[in-house]
Amino acid sequence: MPAAEHTSWDPHSRGASIDFDAPNQARLFDALLGGRDNYVADREVVDQLADLAPGVGQMVRDHREWVGRVLRLLVTQCGVDQFLDLGSGLPGLDNTHQIVQRNNPEAKVCYIDNDPVVLAHGRALLEENENTHMLEFDITRPETVTTDPGLRRRVDFDRPMAVLLCAVTGHILDDDVVRQTVRGWVKAIPSGSYVVVSQQFDPADGSVHSELARTLHKAFLGTAVATAFRERGEIESYFEDLRMVEPGLVQLHKWWPDGPRLVPLSEWNHLMLGALARKP
Ligand SMILES: C[S@@+](CC[C@H](N)C(=O)[O-])C[C@H]1O[C@@H](n2cnc3c(N)ncnc32)[C@H](O)[C@@H]1O
Repeated sequence: MPAAEHTSWDPHSRGASIDFDAPNQARLFDALLGGRDNYVADREVVDQLADLAPGVGQMVRDHREWVGRVLRLLVTQCGVDQFLDLGSGLPGLDNTHQIVQRNNPEAKVCYIDNDPVVLAHGRALLEENENTHMLEFDITRPETVTTDPGLRRRVDFDRPMAVLLCAVTGHILDDDVVRQTVRGWVKAIPSGSYVVVSQQFDPADGSVHSELARTLHKAFLGTAVATAFRERGEIESYFEDLRMVEPGLVQLHKWWPDGPRLVPLSEWNHLMLGALARKP
C-alpha cells in the first residue's frame, strides 16, 4: 500500500496522530450528515454552525445529492469508468463506488485521503471489491500521487477518468496551493477526462450571504475546520483549461436538479458552488 511520507517539518502533512478533543473536517461532515463516526468536539461545531444560520445539515445532504447526480451523469452518459475521489472523507450512506458500480460494476474507484480515521474506516467499509481502493496520499502533491506505481496499478492514466474534488479545496486555505493542486491534477489526466469541483463560495457583493461567508470564515480560523470561502473568479480559474459541462459553475440546487425544489432553501445553499468540466 503506498503511504505518504509524513515528517514533522512537512508543511503538507497533518501528521498521523488523532486528536479526538479537536474537531476534524471529515468527522464534522459525518456529524452534519447524521453519521456516527464523530465526537463531542465535532458536534459542538455543528451546533455553532446551526446557531450562525439554520439549515447547514440540509446543505451538506444537498451536496451529497449533487455529487450523486454528477456521478450518475459521468457513468451513464459520459462513459467514464475510472474515478479518483480526492479528499473522499468518511464513508456515508451512498458512496462513490456504490453509485457508479450500480450502473457499471466494472467501474474502478480510488478513494484518496490523508486522515488516519478516514483511511481506517475507508479500508474497512469501502474496499468491498477488487475495483475499489482506499489510498493514503496528500492530494496537494499531484505529481507525486499520479506517478505512484500503487495508484497506476489501479487506474489507467492512458484512459479518461473523473477526478473529484468535492468539498475539499475549501479546507485547503492557501489559494496558491489549491490552484497548483487543481492544475497539477488537470495536467496529469488524459484528454477526455472530467474534473468535478465543489467549493465554499463568497459572493463578495455586500449581501447577507457574503456577510455569512465572512462570519463563518472568521469563526473557525485557526481551527482544524477552518474554511476558505472563495470568490467566483478564483473558483472559475480552476477550470481554465477545461470545457464546462452545462449549466457551468452554479449553486448546487441549480445544477440539473432531480425535480422541483420542495425543501426550502436556506442561506447555506447560496454558499457552495459546483461544476463539472471536461478536459478537451
Ligand atoms: C469535508 S471532507 C470530505 C468531503 C467529501 N469529498 C464529500 O464530498 O462529502 C474533506 C476531506 O478532505 C480530506 N483532505 C483535506 N486535505 C487533504 C489533503 N491535502 N490530502 C488528502 N486529503 C485531504 C480530509 O481529510 C477530509 O476527509
